[in-house]
Amino acid sequence: MGTDLESVLVSKEEIDAKLAELAAKIDAEYAGKELLLVGVLKGAVMVMADLARTLSNPVTMDWMAVSSYGAGTQSSGVVRILKDLDTDIKGKHVLIVEDIIDSGLTLSWLLSNLGSREPASLNVCTLLRKPDAAKVAIDVKWVGFDIPSEFVVGYGLDYGEKYRNLPFVGTLAPHVYGG
Ligand code: PRP
Repeated sequence: MGTDLESVLVSKEEIDAKLAELAAKIDAEYAGKELLLVGVLKGAVMVMADLARTLSNPVTMDWMAVSSYGAGTQSSGVVRILKDLDTDIKGKHVLIVEDIIDSGLTLSWLLSNLGSREPASLNVCTLLRKPDAAKVAIDVKWVGFDIPSEFVVGYGLDYGEKYRNLPFVGTLAPHVYGG
């Protein structure tokens, strides 16, 4: 995998198995209801595509792109919309699909923003969560893996826009990011 990566934290097989498990729960929760998956660009592209294909029930999909104001790699909690949803979610069952919850600030803002649009329901599914990095408490209905606060890349997650296309989640060697 090259010298930039230190280790595989979550393998492709582990991701596939977890998505199957989550998909079964999501299918059961929304049985008989119309579900809209909202992916948060760009990181959630992989998990959105794979989760959607693992669900048995039909869903629709929409995307948001948001950017956090502030320096460096840290989320500030002040978010601006780069691309809004194409659809009106009023009265719809909405599931936000995320790759990772770090500080939780992005999601906290998203939940408040989308919640104000009066969806019938609003839940969150994330592949990864860093419990030790949480700055705000968020009610997340479905979590794939709780992971340590390490610099992770792959399966949608980037460092300087690289590594998103790795089929697994790995930790980056400290020499790459100057850690
Ligand atoms: C990542 C991730 C979440 C957010 C989580 O996105 O996809 O949206 O950070 O961080 P937080 O919990 O500390 O707010 P990022 O801003 O890196 O954009 P990207 O998805 O385009 O890589």
